[in-house]
Amino acid sequence: MTGDRQRIEDALLAAVQTKDAYLNELARHLIVAGGKRLRPVLTLVAAQVAGGPALHGAVQGGIACELVQTGSLYHDDVIDESATRRGVETVNAKWGNLQAILAGDFLLARASEIAASLGAEVAGLLGNTIARLCEGEIEQLRHTYDVSRPEPSYFSSIEGKTASLFSTAARIGGIVAGLDRPVIDALTEYGRAYGMAFQIVDDVLDITATDEQLGKPAGHDMVEGVYTLPVLRTMSSGGVAADELRDLLGSPLNAVVCDKALSIVRAGSGVEQALSAAQAYVTLAVEACALLPAGAATDALRTTPQHLLDSL
Ligand code: IPE
Ligand code: IPE
Ligand code: MG
Ligand code: MG
Repeated sequence: MTGDRQRIEDALLAAVQTKDAYLNELARHLIVAGGKRLRPVLTLVAAQVAGGPALHGAVQGGIACELVQTGSLYHDDVIDESATRRGVETVNAKWGNLQAILAGDFLLARASEIAASLGAEVAGLLGNTIARLCEGEIEQLRHTYDVSRPEPSYFSSIEGKTASLFSTAARIGGIVAGLDRPVIDALTEYGRAYGMAFQIVDDVLDITATDEQLGKPAGHDMVEGVYTLPVLRTMSSGGVAADELRDLLGSPLNAVVCDKALSIVRAGSGVEQALSAAQAYVTLAVEACALLPAGAATDALRTTPQHLLDSL
């Protein structure tokens, strides 16, 4: 995988080349800052479940997904007014919102170009996924500062904004490797379930971790009025703490109120309940592996989801 990771890095930098040096600088900013590259690695592993080496098409499909990820983070940081990402200043903080929007568009455009080179099915799939990311972010926006946000709104939002891209990353791996349709469908379900667990854990970490641990601002969801599963479960669990939390939320928070709200959520059962919801998606992801060919790549897919929860 070390050689494959280098191929991903080289292909990402090549994909954002442009004759405009300023646009290139903006587009490279978060790519060179790092990031876990989970989506392209998933594409590569998915493409290898029937054996064989990592194909050029899988690297290209993987980086198309990573470019969508990075482009959507440029836009997400404008939406969330975030100042740090991947341990560095965001594009919006360093250069401005207009630059972040345009550079994000550029990354999405490059992703589409690469997807088209892999055929109509991959191109259509990636286009559909970008639409689902927008639907997920809009669903979140619809309920900002809404203390009565229904849980189905939360789940449909994270399915669109996060699980859809993990699902597509795995599916593209299966498509470019020419795997059987039932295997491609199992990879798709694996990616969806993994992505759901991943976002729930990200939402828990926003409550329980520090800025330094995350490389991005902690406690930020609540400040921005994004009430995620641990918060919704704390409010619906009843009792004095639930009432107190509901009274604090519903409008923008200052630092003191935010700390108070965070400590209520940390002290209650909302975090634990959210983690058991994440565990249920981890189980679904592991179950999807039963439909994949036996081998080292499938073994890797089977063991990875649980690590999301073990690290907490
Ligand atoms: C961040 O994704 C956005 C979410 C879906 C929570 P990652 O945590 O995979 O971010 P990078 O790509 O490693 O920076
Ligand atoms: C995920 O949601 C955003 C995208 C999928 C683009 P978050 O808003 O929770 O992501 P972070 O926490 O900023 O990385
Ligand atoms: Mg965000
Ligand atoms: Mg988050």
